[in-house]
Amino acid sequence: MAGELSPIDKAKFVAAKRASQYVEDGMRVGLGTGSTAAWLVRCLGEMVRDDGLRIKGVPTSSRTAMLARDVGIEVISLDEAKWLDLTIDGADEFDGDLNLIKGGGGALLQEKIVATASDQMIVIADIGKEVESLGAFPLPIEVIPFGWQTTQALVEETLISMDVLGRTSTLRMNGDVPFVTDEGNHILDLHLNRIGNPRQLALVINQMPGVVENGLFIDICDAVVIGYGDGRVEVR
Ligand code: 5RP
Repeated sequence: MAGELSPIDKAKFVAAKRASQYVEDGMRVGLGTGSTAAWLVRCLGEMVRDDGLRIKGVPTSSRTAMLARDVGIEVISLDEAKWLDLTIDGADEFDGDLNLIKGGGGALLQEKIVATASDQMIVIADIGKEVESLGAFPLPIEVIPFGWQTTQALVEETLISMDVLGRTSTLRMNGDVPFVTDEGNHILDLHLNRIGNPRQLALVINQMPGVVENGLFIDICDAVVIGYGDGRVEVR
C-alpha cells in the first residue's frame, strides 16, 4: 500500500500504521480527516479486508466518509454510534501538553465533536507537527456565513484587547470563492504566531456570536503517535 514514499509521507504512514494497532475488533472508531488520517483509513480498510476486522467508523468529514466506504469500512453516523471507543486523527500542531491546533483541512467542527465523544483520542503526526508553543500554524475558527465580516472584526478587536501577538485574520478561500465547510460555514484563519494561553483563547473565541468552533483542542488528546521520515515511530 505504501510503495515508494517521500520522507514526510513515510512519517505519516508509519504513524498511522502504528496507531491502527490500537483498533480492536468490535470497536466504534472516529476517523479523522487529512492526509495522515487518510493513511489510517487505508490501513484499517486493509485490516477489514485481510484480517476480518469488524469495526464501525464515524467519519469526521464527507471526504473521509467517501474514503472509508471505498476501502470497505462500515460507516455509521455519530448519532447511531452514540459513543466511540477511540478516535484517531491528524493535527496541524501539538505541544508538550498534547494540546493541538486542528482544522487545516477545514473539518475542525466535526473533528472536535467526534473526538470529545470518544473514550480515547489518539493523534497521528509526523515529527514536523511538534511545537514548543502553539500558534505558528494559523488558528482556524469556523464562523457562520451570516455577518462573517462583523464576526471577523469582533475577533480581531478581542485579540487586540487580550494583547495577543499577531492579530490578522484571513477568510479561507477555495480558489475565487470562500471555502465552505461540511456544515456550510466559513473558516477564518488567525495569524497569531504564538499562543501564550491556548485554554483562555479557546474559551474567549467560542463566546463570540457568529463563531461556531475553534481549532484549539485542549485536554482532548490522550496520546500522540509520531512518525519520522526514516520509519521510526514514537508514542507520547
Ligand atoms: C483537518 C485536520 C487535519 O488533521 C490536519 O490539518 C492535519 O492534516 P494532515 O494530516 O494532512 O497534515 O485538522 O481539519
